[in-house]
Amino acid sequence: MILKATNIHKSFGALPILKGVDIEVQRGEIVSIVGASGAGKSTFLHIIGTLDKADKGELFINDTAIHRLSSNEMSAFRNQHIGFVFQFHHLLPEFTALENVCIPAFINGTSKQKAENRAMELLDILGVTERANHKPSQLSGGEQQRVSVARALINTPSLVLADEPSGNLDSENAASLHQLFFNLRDSMSQTFIIVTHNEELAGISDRTIHMRDGLIYG
Ligand SMILES: Nc1ncnc2c1ncn2[C@@H]1O[C@H](COP(=O)(O)OP(=O)(O)O)[C@@H](O)[C@H]1O
Ligand SMILES: [Mg+2]
Repeated sequence: MILKATNIHKSFGALPILKGVDIEVQRGEIVSIVGASGAGKSTFLHIIGTLDKADKGELFINDTAIHRLSSNEMSAFRNQHIGFVFQFHHLLPEFTALENVCIPAFINGTSKQKAENRAMELLDILGVTERANHKPSQLSGGEQQRVSVARALINTPSLVLADEPSGNLDSENAASLHQLFFNLRDSMSQTFIIVTHNEELAGISDRTIHMRDGLIYG
C-alpha cells in the first residue's frame, strides 16, 4: 500500500469542501479521479500531496503518518516522495528543461553530476532529450508537459499526483502523455493519481474514483 487516507475533512472558512474522503492506493496503480468542477478534487489532491493539511482525518504515505508531521517535515517528505504534474507546466522560464528537471534533486542535496545524469535519463525516457538545453518558452505544450513529468520523477517519488495534466493539450498530445504514464508504470511500477476530465484516460485507468460534493463514490 502506497497511500491510505481516512475520513479526510477540509473546510475553507465555514464552507465544508471535503466531507470524509477515504482512499487506498497500491503501488503501481494508476487511479483517476473524476467529477464536476468544484467537487473538491484539487483540494483533495493538495492534501494527499502534503501541500495542505486536512482539518480532520489520517493520511499515510509509504507508512509515514503525514498528519503527525510538522510543516518542515512535510516539505522534506514532499520533496522526496511526491511528484506533481499540473495542468500548466509551472516550469521556471529562465531555466532550461534540464535545469528545471534537476531543481528538486538539488533541493534534496543531490550532486550536480548525479542529478544531471538522472535528468538526462528521464528526458530520454520521455522523448525530449534534444530539448534539454531549451527554455520552456521554446517547447511545445506536449514537450513542456513531458519535461514536467521528468521533473516530477527526478527524486524517484513514491507517488505522482497530476491535476488535469492533459487539460491544456490537443487530443493527440494528450493520448501520448497518457501512454507515457502507463509506460512508466510498466517499467518502474510508478504509482499515479490523476484528476482528469479526459474520458479516454479515465477509461484506461486501473480504477476511476468519482467525486461529488466533497465525497467519493465507487
Ligand atoms: N483556498 C481556497 N479558499 C476558499 N475556497 C476554496 C479554496 N480552494 C478551493 N476552494 C473552493 O472549494 C471548492 C472545491 O474546489 P476544488 O477542490 O478546486 O474543486 P475541483 O478541483 O473539483 O474543481 C470550490 O467551491 C472552491 O471555490
Ligand atoms: Mg481542480
